[in-house]
Amino acid sequence: MAQTHSHSQGPHAAQTQHGDAPHGPGHSHGHHQDLDWATEGPRLVREAELYQPVTEQVIGWLRERFEAAGKRPDDVRRVLDIGSGSGVATCLLAEAFPRAEVVAVDTAQPLLDLVTERAAGRGLGDRVSTLLAELPDGVAVSEGTDANGAGSATQGEERVVAGLGEADLVWSRKVLHHVGDQRDVVQRLARALRPGGLMALTEGGLPMRFLPRDIGLGHPGLQARLNAVMEEWFEGMRAGLPGSTRVVEDWPGLLSGAGLSRATSRSFLLDLPAPLGATGREHVTASLSRFTELVGDLMTAQDIAVLAQLLDSADPEGIARREDAFLLTAETVHTAYA
Ligand SMILES: C[S@@+](CC[C@H](N)C(=O)[O-])C[C@H]1O[C@@H](n2cnc3c(N)ncnc32)[C@H](O)[C@@H]1O
Repeated sequence: MAQTHSHSQGPHAAQTQHGDAPHGPGHSHGHHQDLDWATEGPRLVREAELYQPVTEQVIGWLRERFEAAGKRPDDVRRVLDIGSGSGVATCLLAEAFPRAEVVAVDTAQPLLDLVTERAAGRGLGDRVSTLLAELPDGVAVSEGTDANGAGSATQGEERVVAGLGEADLVWSRKVLHHVGDQRDVVQRLARALRPGGLMALTEGGLPMRFLPRDIGLGHPGLQARLNAVMEEWFEGMRAGLPGSTRVVEDWPGLLSGAGLSRATSRSFLLDLPAPLGATGREHVTASLSRFTELVGDLMTAQDIAVLAQLLDSADPEGIARREDAFLLTAETVHTAYA
């Protein structure tokens, strides 16, 4: 029961500590360039599966948040997963809210195809659907007109968001920082919530750590230097987004400003200690490789040489083989009720 809308395409940008690793060749620091999200499937699946224990904890917390507001999981009948990627969370949401239709919304059809495949493989095909849409254009505000698959639209109340329909839960993980005007998109998404509905945005948190301060190579503190240059790169990426608007990234404040109440944030730790398993090493290696592509030109020659050594799978000091590689990070989830 996939619904497919054709909105403008043209995926944007990349991520740094604001989520997972930055993406893709062809970026240069300080300049926005289009990212082909459609080719990101395998990376997104690996990342989302690695983070799945965290996502499960987050969803458990959301069930508690609903219960605190007098809602049982069965009362949650429609969920929007905004920027669903490969659908790992989409399926976990469908399992956690067993009477809900869960709609995966994304700008990349190949990723939505992965969602459909994943849902079918888990016996969730009848409750998981997909919607091709690009924020913010795909979430135009409707003035009382009916919305696709939305349930009832309320005359005169700008509660319904055209194309997305209404929802009891709007979930979005590591997506909104890819949209030029973050305040505007929070406001649009808030209008999709049914009364008593919950918004859950994963943004911010802590940058991924994967090596000790002193790794016995080059000058100690490589990771901190990488984080600093990636912050600069991230700022350039945001500045290059269509409609880029600077906003104080106070997510609870943005939720409250969108008319939602009882904004609360909580952080969840992903703690994979050394020695890191194979999937964790692949993820760290892929992330480090992207860091190098994106900001290598801002690092010293010595740091670049160390990065090359870390990325060399045959080198005993490389990420693939060294004993001290780990993965530690935190995701922050911001919630509020309609
Ligand atoms: C970092 S990934 C996160 C994927 C997924 N939420 C997860 O947690 O694994 C960002 C996702 O947002 C989607 N995306 C990026 N910009 C978008 C936009 N403007 N509108 C809709 N989706 C967008 C991308 O296609 C990608 O799937």
